[in-house]
Amino acid sequence: MKNAPSNTRAATFSDLIGPAKIIGKVLLAKLERLNPQTDSVAMLFHGPPGVGKSELASLFADTLIGGKSCRNYAREKISGAKINADLVRRWHDARGIGSLFSDWTVKIIEEVDAMPAVAQTLMLDYLDECQPGTAILATSNEQIKLLEERFRRRFQVWHVTAPTTEEIANFLRGKFPDIYPAEATTIAALCGGCVGAAIHDAENAIDIRFYEAIQRNEGGAK
Ligand SMILES: Nc1ncnc2c1ncn2[C@@H]1O[C@H](COP(=O)(O)OP(=O)(O)O)[C@@H](O)[C@H]1O
Ligand SMILES: [Mg+2]
Repeated sequence: MKNAPSNTRAATFSDLIGPAKIIGKVLLAKLERLNPQTDSVAMLFHGPPGVGKSELASLFADTLIGGKSCRNYAREKISGAKINADLVRRWHDARGIGSLFSDWTVKIIEEVDAMPAVAQTLMLDYLDECQPGTAILATSNEQIKLLEERFRRRFQVWHVTAPTTEEIANFLRGKFPDIYPAEATTIAALCGGCVGAAIHDAENAIDIRFYEAIQRNEGGAK
């Protein structure tokens, strides 16, 4: 028996399940069409927690910039709560300056609903004047109504919903060879559609079993 793996992030769009997987397929087709000389991208993934919003944004970003190795140079990831008016002004001033390492410059804004209202207002101009080769990828939990309508309208909005219980149970069985089938079913049924939580619960279930096995062995060795 092995410990549960700790790297649980999706490596490609095809690792995703449920609605996120379908959206991933649409995004892959879109990626083929995008041209950094003429196009810019503003997309907002919203929906409940743990369904693949950040994963979609991250995979889209990595594919745009040509792989994870360019991450540090062409991709910036920031949480909405940390975006203030000064930062948006800086982005605005630097908008003509691309990356040396990639045709695309990508900003991922996590939990964009937590952005202060002033920064949201300033972002309107920035979004309107985005240069070709720029991608703004935002994520938000269900509080999409907190975003001003005029802000939201500047993004292509993807509503990401939860996979079915059966999809999550099958996913857990595929990802964790050591999980008991019934355990996967129970975890999937109790996770409320949150794949992220289901992964952690599955890891816990396996690691606890591992812990107990060691404890029994050590007990027996005494
Ligand atoms: N649809 C999905 N398919 C496969 N894994 C998923 C899916 N949704 C979430 N996960 C996994 O759950 C964890 C949290 O996902 P994340 O994309 O951060 O969720 P959120 O929707 O809250 O942004 C990650 O490990 C991710 O790989
Ligand atoms: Mg997220």
